[in-house]
Amino acid sequence: MKTRILMVCLGNICRSPLAEGILKSKVDEEKIFVDSAGTSNYHVDDCPDPRSVDIARQNNLDIRSQRGRQFSAEDFDNFDRIYVMDMSNYQDVLSLARNEQDKEKVSLILNEVFPGENVEVPDPYHGGANGFKKVYDMLDEACTIIAEKHQ
Ligand code: 4NP
Repeated sequence: MKTRILMVCLGNICRSPLAEGILKSKVDEEKIFVDSAGTSNYHVDDCPDPRSVDIARQNNLDIRSQRGRQFSAEDFDNFDRIYVMDMSNYQDVLSLARNEQDKEKVSLILNEVFPGENVEVPDPYHGGANGFKKVYDMLDEACTIIAEKHQ
């Protein structure tokens, strides 16, 4: 059985598409399925934000084929691990959990890098390109650790 990993942010156009693309590039996709979703419905069916596409391309990743979708309670059945970007995403995802098993699947992605510190991946949507570079570097570090765990 493939391990299934879901990356979640608010819009599913800036942070989680990068997390999806970065993790996919570091794992064997025969063994691990990676997807992403947003807690909101603001960008359902939208392409990733051009600033995420740019920073991905600068790192030799093409995330243009991704499309936005909204997180739903069914995702607890379809995924083994759910990584969220910030505490707001964490609360929104947990509010849809049906039991303890659902809740245990959810964690802040940067707790992989800084265990127990609850560091957030900041929402870069209202900022400039530098914010996307910072987000990329944070997610790259976290995804390296996640990929190593799933060798
Ligand atoms: P994301 O960024 O959660 O990293 O995809 C955002 C994208 C869109 C909005 C907020 C955050 N928005 O309000 O439309």
